[in-house]
Amino acid sequence: MRLEKIHLLNFKNYEELSLDLSPQINCILGENGSGKTNLLDAIYYLSVTKSAFSSTEQQNVRHDEPYLLTKGVFFKQDQHYTVSCSWQRGQKKQVKNDRIPYEKLSEHIGHFPVVLISPDDTDLIRGASELRRRFFDGILSQIDADYLTDLINYNHVLRQRNALLKQFADRNTYDSDLLDSYSDQLLDVGYRLYQKRSEFLKALIPHFSLHYNNLSGQKEEVDIRYTSHFSEESYRSVFYNAYRKDLVLQRTTQGIHRDDYHFQINEYPTKRYGSQGQQKSFVIALKLAQFDVLREEKKLKPILLLDDIFDKLDDFRIGKLTEMVVAHSFGQLFVTDARPERTRSIFGNIEGEKKYFTVHRGEVTETLTEGEKDQPDQHQNRQQDRQREPNNVAEE
Ligand SMILES: Nc1ncnc2c1ncn2[C@@H]1O[C@H](COP(=O)(O)OP(=O)(O)OP(=O)(O)O)[C@@H](O)[C@H]1O
Ligand SMILES: [Mg+2]
Repeated sequence: MRLEKIHLLNFKNYEELSLDLSPQINCILGENGSGKTNLLDAIYYLSVTKSAFSSTEQQNVRHDEPYLLTKGVFFKQDQHYTVSCSWQRGQKKQVKNDRIPYEKLSEHIGHFPVVLISPDDTDLIRGASELRRRFFDGILSQIDADYLTDLINYNHVLRQRNALLKQFADRNTYDSDLLDSYSDQLLDVGYRLYQKRSEFLKALIPHFSLHYNNLSGQKEEVDIRYTSHFSEESYRSVFYNAYRKDLVLQRTTQGIHRDDYHFQINEYPTKRYGSQGQQKSFVIALKLAQFDVLREEKKLKPILLLDDIFDKLDDFRIGKLTEMVVAHSFGQLFVTDARPERTRSIFGNIEGEKKYFTVHRGEVTETLTEGEKDQPDQHQNRQQDRQREPNNVAEE
């Protein structure tokens, strides 16, 4: 699968942008604050219908503009798909696939999978459990539409149950039948989600360990332990026994919204004992495992977005990642770097179709590769060939 074209209007610092992309390697270069990460985020947005970095559309729309549009032409299993996401202040976001709007945005999730590796990823280790749940939920939702439906449902019932607990406290009332009906729904849906979370983690861990050891060149034991109230056999009675506590605290204290994933190196918490380098390798291995699992499930290679990744890695680890690129382990790749010479030297000798883009204050220009600079005609011919045969790139 690949993204062939992208078009942006008023997305973050891009007023208007149209780009033809390489089916293989796209290097996005430019100084700090120029818009490199924003461009990757726009690709992420087309896949997931939201930004990876900002939680509201107000942050995504260009300052003082009334609306934003992201549009992309994807190529998947011999077919083109035009996806557009638009949002206007005061209105609901609209996502269309080949001009047909989705009724629910969640229906779009999983069709055009992407994996983003960014400098913020170590927050997964250092941050609150909510970030880890959101990360694993994100992958599961891309793989399993029923999981996403259950999750949306669970969160809806949870909000209702919490509102009810608050209402009891405010009005000094109590209705056990009503509370029970919410509890039963939470327990049923929650247990399904718990089972899927634990099965998924079992499938992910072998990929993760392999990538960690490959990247670090070390034989440290890495592990992820999943903890949940639902892992107790008596989870139902524990849930009901917590009623008094729930009433006092006016919120639901038991359930999968309290689950956590514990990251460990040699049986010690990565958060407290992992070095910075180990933590970085940990999250990169986790994202590469995400890539593997999505590839297996979807039978296609997700788009890989590598934001500032080289800044975070030593030469050995860069070498290991480059080996994967050379071995064509990845499909379409987008890489950002504020140091153009470093990216050019890493990718210069790698076979494959490459494009270099230079970003400057929200404007993007395509720059020629070293070889193309010497033979400009060849570059032009290749462009023309591609126009004649738009589908000439091997697709998984
Ligand atoms: N909604 C918005 N409207 C206008 N500009 C925005 C908006 N959101 C972010 N920006 C601008 O986008 C720029 C940041 O872009 P981005 O994060 O893509 O930079 P970058 O090239 O990745 O930089 P670095 O190399 O530091 O990572 C900043 O100048 C920021 O002010
Ligand atoms: Mg950036």
